[in-house]
Amino acid sequence: MEIHPHIEVDEAKGLMIGGIPASRIARKHGTPLYVYSEEAIVDRIREYSSALGVTYPNGAIVYAGKAYLTMRMAQLAAQEGLFLDAASGGEIYIALQAGFPAERIIFHGNNKSLAELEMAVTAGVGRVVVDNLDEMAVLQAIAEKQHRVQEILIRLTPGIDPHTHKYLATGEMESKFGIAMHGVRHFAAAEAASRASSLNLLGFHCHIGSQIFDISPFLAAARIMLVFAAELREKTGIVARELDLGGGLGVVYTGEAPGPSPSAFIMELGREVRRLAEERAFPLPRLFVEPGRSIVAEAGVMLYTVGSVKELPNGTTVAAVDGGMSDNPRPMLYGAKYRAVMVLPAEEAGKRPVRIVGKHCEEGDTLIEQADLPPLRPGDLLAVLVSGAYQYTMRSSYNALPCPAVVHVAGKRDFTVVERQTYRDLIAKQRVLPAFKRESRDRAANAF
Ligand code: LLP
Repeated sequence: MEIHPHIEVDEAKGLMIGGIPASRIARKHGTPLYVYSEEAIVDRIREYSSALGVTYPNGAIVYAGKAYLTMRMAQLAAQEGLFLDAASGGEIYIALQAGFPAERIIFHGNNKSLAELEMAVTAGVGRVVVDNLDEMAVLQAIAEKQHRVQEILIRLTPGIDPHTHKYLATGEMESKFGIAMHGVRHFAAAEAASRASSLNLLGFHCHIGSQIFDISPFLAAARIMLVFAAELREKTGIVARELDLGGGLGVVYTGEAPGPSPSAFIMELGREVRRLAEERAFPLPRLFVEPGRSIVAEAGVMLYTVGSVKELPNGTTVAAVDGGMSDNPRPMLYGAKYRAVMVLPAEEAGKRPVRIVGKHCEEGDTLIEQADLPPLRPGDLLAVLVSGAYQYTMRSSYNALPCPAVVHVAGKRDFTVVERQTYRDLIAKQRVLPAFKRESRDRAANAF
């Protein structure tokens, strides 16, 4: 059974990731474990890049690092010629440390700190997406002090309902992000930017939300942005040379009706932007699209080991794995659904409903409400599919569970890209008061 071109279930060997048995990866690196097929990531990147190259050559794919960022991932994105959407100083740091070119970083955020803005300007980050007028003033002052001109885009909120989970919708007027395209605010922001001597306004950005399957809200956003750009030119003479339409293409986790593929999405979007610009005799802007989830989600698999298996009085079977909400908070946060498969071929035939829960001290720590699996036993390896996006990056250390390792597979080789945390790592930044330390040491000594 092929789950994805690089992730499949072999009848004899079980789950294979990038051509290697997942059981071998689990034995070698332990569980819980984040595993990625690099070929799967790179295929997706190339699908995006070549679709854009064909439809809209004056464009670039910007990988949204918030979906999954490690130094190795930044390296892959750099090698593939992508731009990078960084949402914090931390993400910029990871990217720079991996050798990602600063000029290809697009810096986002609705509340960037002074230190983050200084870091971005000093590093030579390609574009800062200015979220509000306060930030614009701070950025102007920083750039001026450094005798630099910082290129910027302004983030606008086009007032679009993308029909997704309410936590994932960001394009509506009530959003906390950007400047609402309401009244004259967005015109005023563009004029303020063009007056700022140390800022160079290249254009505008919008991001309507995430996990969106319908292409029409994206096209609607493109229209609103182009109509605005044309009106702005007419009223003020300011010409937007760049348009960044954000990310958000949905991914099938389980059961969702598939939306357009990345290439179909890019082709339609590119065509629409071209059409809208031509209609208004507007010079074709450079187009940026910022996918995150759709590049990494399907390339990732989470491996767990089953511990306890219980039959509840109401007949439900509950199997607990060695991770849970700390490595994947998405089921609890968004009611996200996932699919699990056995890593090794089942010894017993037949499938049964089973609730897959984590090991955290929290009743709601359920990963999959109802999976359909062969009877599970302690020690079985379980894989949760489509685990590559917003899991590693949204992990927590609840219950002081050490962060799982991240392993990549490429060219039929598996290698660690993030080491598993140790207990020592958990206290690496902690301090105890010397007196307390002495006292507790004495107490501990007396106890034995
Ligand atoms: N650009 C901007 C400005 C964004 O805020 C985001 C996502 C993206 C691009 C990438 O969107 P994507 O292609 O990945 O949908 N934690 C949530 C998703 C939050 C998305 C935040 N912004 C989840 O786990 O579903």
